This record gives sequence, structure tokens and C-alpha cells, in this order.
Amino acid sequence: PSRGLMDSFGRRATDLRISLIDKCNLRCTYCMPAEGLPWLSKDQLLSAAEIRRLVHIGVNTLGVRELRLTGGEPLVRADLVDIIAGLRADHPDLPIAMTTNAIGLERKAAALAEAGLTRVNISLDSVHRETFAQLTRRDSLDKVLIGVEAAAAAGLTPLKINAVLMRGVNDTHAADLLEWSVARGFELRFIEQMPLDGDQQWKAEGTISAAETRGLLSERFRLAPTQENRDGAPAERFDVFPLDTAPGASPESAPEPLGRVGIIASVTEPFCGDCRRTRLTAEGRVMSCLFSNEEFDLMHLLRAPESTDADIAQAWAEAMWVKPAAHGTDRPGFDLASFHRPDRSMSAIGG
Ligand code: GTP
Ligand code: 5AD
Ligand code: SF4
Repeated sequence: PSRGLMDSFGRRATDLRISLIDKCNLRCTYCMPAEGLPWLSKDQLLSAAEIRRLVHIGVNTLGVRELRLTGGEPLVRADLVDIIAGLRADHPDLPIAMTTNAIGLERKAAALAEAGLTRVNISLDSVHRETFAQLTRRDSLDKVLIGVEAAAAAGLTPLKINAVLMRGVNDTHAADLLEWSVARGFELRFIEQMPLDGDQQWKAEGTISAAETRGLLSERFRLAPTQENRDGAPAERFDVFPLDTAPGASPESAPEPLGRVGIIASVTEPFCGDCRRTRLTAEGRVMSCLFSNEEFDLMHLLRAPESTDADIAQAWAEAMWVKPAAHGTDRPGFDLASFHRPDRSMSAIGG
């Protein structure tokens, strides 16, 4: 019997994230440099069959219970619908989510849902056209908004929106984005910017912290922490109420919330101690953590005719055993100069 993807601190990874491609059609400043990156060639990427084999190994021998497809931008992959259909055929009950910027989702949402995709998280940092263009370096807000609608219509729900606040760019629009999201029944999450940008411009002082985000939202809404157990989830969640409502005296008399918002405090209040994630890069390497400096190549095993599923499972488990305890951005003495960044920017890890 396998002990699964356990690390030396006793955490067990059950949540698999696979980056399908490193390319993206946006250039979010916190993620990728303006000029892009040297893209992988098609034969360097995990093929649909290789992805299917890895997920089979993950689910059947290593205890994987949840799958998330990421990029770059997963919709850029031409065989995305086939990949999902293959995974769904093997795993009728596996939750399969995708993180996407929604460009092109208008055409594909229905087919993706039909193929077996469960739900999507959509990256959207501003609903103001100019701010969106400044942040993503592309004037594509309209395409994204059409994609969001198509995803909701196709039932890829609960639909979550991910936003990174950048000081002086979209921070003053945080409450607008929340208003837009709750009006549509989406759960918005604000993510603290992590030092994984392509330009290496990140500064601790620049990060809009969870506390600051709550402050920005409290100018227009009243937030009340939900009473749920977080259970390893990155987001701390709040019920959102209009400003002029008072908390109910008893649970029965409590007003109905407008919706929910989450805050992912990866930098100031990391949740590494409860981490359940294992990651595969688009070229088939295990990253035990977003901040890993070491990657373990499974591609050479996948492509060596003599290697068995058991060999691959063992290599994957060994890679996870050495998962680091935490990234340390919250340590009082955290110092960017001595911080050893992963070799990849966020776009090539998949978030
Ligand atoms: P659900 O809440 O289940 O929908 O998934 P999720 O929050 O894991 O998915 P998503 O891909 O939308 O992730 C949102 C963001 O959370 C990521 O982009 C990261 O910024 C952050 N995040 C996810 N996993 C980790 C992690 O292992 N470490 C850190 N520091 N941040 C993470
Ligand atoms: N810090 C925090 N989140 C980031 N993302 C991309 N780069 C960063 C970063 N440096 C987020 C995107 C997307 C998710 C996959 O990762 O907003 O929603
Ligand atoms: Fe593309 Fe996502 Fe990176 Fe933006 S955050 S450049 S949408 S991969």
C-alpha cells in the first residue's frame, strides 16, 4: 500500500494541479514579462495521453482526490476538450476544475462542460477597461466578460473570480469588482501578490495585504467572517453585507448576505502548514510547492518504454517527500535579496 504523496512534515497532497501549457494571451504584470518568455515547443509539453496516464497514477495509487488544470492559459491548448473528455472517461467522480483568463471561453464553455469539466476560476483584476488593459497589457476586457458569461451559462459553477490588487493600478477599484461579482453570484477572491512575477519587480511594501484589502472593501460593504472550517483552503471567506445593515441579534434575525468574498493571504498569513497541493509543470516536472527551487522530471520516465506506472508513482512520491515546510515571506526578517526565487515565473507554474 502506498503512503501517497506525503512529505517529511506529514502533509499529504490530494489536490493535483497540472499546467497544460506555458503560453498565455495576456501579460499580467505580476505574472509575466511584457515580451513573454521562451515558450516550450509542442513536443516538450505533456501530451493528452501522458496527462491521462499521470492522473490515472495520481488517483489510483497516490491518493489524488481533486484536479485543477492551469497554464499559462489552458484555453490556448487546442486539445483541451479532448484532454478533459479523456480524464472524465477514466474518473467519473473526480472534481475537475480549471483556472483561466476566460479569453476564448465563449466558444468553448459548453463543450468543456459537456466533456466533463466541473467548474472554473477566472482571473479578472478589474472591470474597468483601461485598468484591465494596464494590468494585463492587452485591451481584452470585452472578450473576458463574454467568456465569464458563457462559463456561468454552461454551468461551470460555483464560479470564482481571482483578482490580484496592484498598488496604484486597481486597488481603488476593489469594491467595484466585489459589487460586480456579488451581483452575478460569483465568489470573488483577492490574492496577495507573491514574489513570482516575471519582471522580478515584487517588493514587500508593494503588496496589498489581506488587512489592507479588508479595509478597502469596508468602505462600501460590511464583511463578516464565515463560520466554516477552512480545512486547508487558501481563502479566508467572508459574508458580504450592505454597509447600513447591522449584524442580527440572533442567527434567525441575521440579514441575508449579498454574497461571499475570499482573501488569499499567501504572503502575510501563509497556509503552508495545511497545504494539500502537488503540481506538475507543462513539461512534466513535479513541483512540490509554488516556491520550490527543485523540480523532478517525470517526462523522461513517461517517455522511456521500460518504465512502469509504479516507477512513475515512486518518483512522484519521492519528489513530494522533500516539499519545503513554508516559503517564509511572512517571517519578520524576510529579505528579498536573500530569497531564492523559483526558476519560473507564475505563468509557468500555473498559480
Ligand atoms: P478553489 O478555491 O478550490 O477553487 O481553488 P484554488 O484557490 O486552489 O484555485 P486557484 O487556482 O484559483 O488559486 C487561487 C490562488 O491561490 C492561486 O493563484 C495562488 O495565488 C493561491 N494559491 C493556490 N495554491 C497555493 C499554494 O500552494 N501556495 C500559495 N502560497 N498560494 C497558493
Ligand atoms: N501573485 C499572486 N497571484 C498571482 N497570480 C499570477 N501571478 C501571481 C502572483 N505573482 C494568480 C492569477 C491567477 C492565478 C492562477 O494566479 O491572478 O488567477
Ligand atoms: Fe496569463 Fe494568468 Fe499570467 Fe495573466 S496571470 S499573464 S492570465 S497566465
